[in-house]
Amino acid sequence: MKPAKDYIIFPLDVSSMEAAMKWVELLGDRVGLFKIGLELFIRLGPAVVRTINETGGAGVFLDLKLHDIPNTVNRAMRGIVDLGVKFVTVHCGDSPRMLEAAVEGSQGKVDVLGVTVLTSVSPGDIKAIGYRQDYYSDMNRLVLDKAAMARDAGCAGVVCSGLEAPGIKSRLGPKFTAVIPGIRPLWSLHRKDDQERVVTPAAAVRNGADYLVIGRPIRDADQPVQAVKMVADEIRDAVQSHRP
Ligand code: C5P
Repeated sequence: MKPAKDYIIFPLDVSSMEAAMKWVELLGDRVGLFKIGLELFIRLGPAVVRTINETGGAGVFLDLKLHDIPNTVNRAMRGIVDLGVKFVTVHCGDSPRMLEAAVEGSQGKVDVLGVTVLTSVSPGDIKAIGYRQDYYSDMNRLVLDKAAMARDAGCAGVVCSGLEAPGIKSRLGPKFTAVIPGIRPLWSLHRKDDQERVVTPAAAVRNGADYLVIGRPIRDADQPVQAVKMVADEIRDAVQSHRP
């Protein structure tokens, strides 16, 4: 069984090396991966990836959410493969060609994840922009179609909400990785934020999540180490009670 901590991806949503390293030191042996997103990467670039890798603790998930013409994404990916990261994200977008170019550029050295529909997006948003009724009345369908496109293009998995994970696992198979952001433990629900399609850590695991991205419930907790421990306990209980 995968250790509970290895399910946890902690996003380093901070803007300095000092702040990032504070979290890396605090949580390096309590989470599976650190996620570097646009905020940190724009400020510090590849140096922050190297610095975190040198600590020898949790590895790096580079969440750049690439979205451009296939040639540009392919060339960006060729630079990323040398950084030594476990995952990199590309938006699923509107055609498979960008995803295929990303996978080709990854040269088998990094796992490419397709971002399906952000967990901050609601059915009302999808409707307002003119999507078909079957997509806004059932977001699962839109996420599943994007995930199938990512799988067919050779992606290792997708980023989706915990609500859509069961459909992804049953349609695309257990080996197709589901990374789930929008994780909100019951004890954190009093804080309302920009996430819309949220689930608890236990529900995410029951629904088939391979990884859980969980930021603010840990970062904003009075005692972050205690918070990450509570998340790991909840994951462990869910995995054990869910074993066949
Ligand atoms: O748990 P919290 O909401 O603080 O997590 C925020 C992090 O999750 C951000 O780094 C954001 O980029 C990431 N995220 C994501 N995909 C989504 C929603 C959030 O990678 N669909």
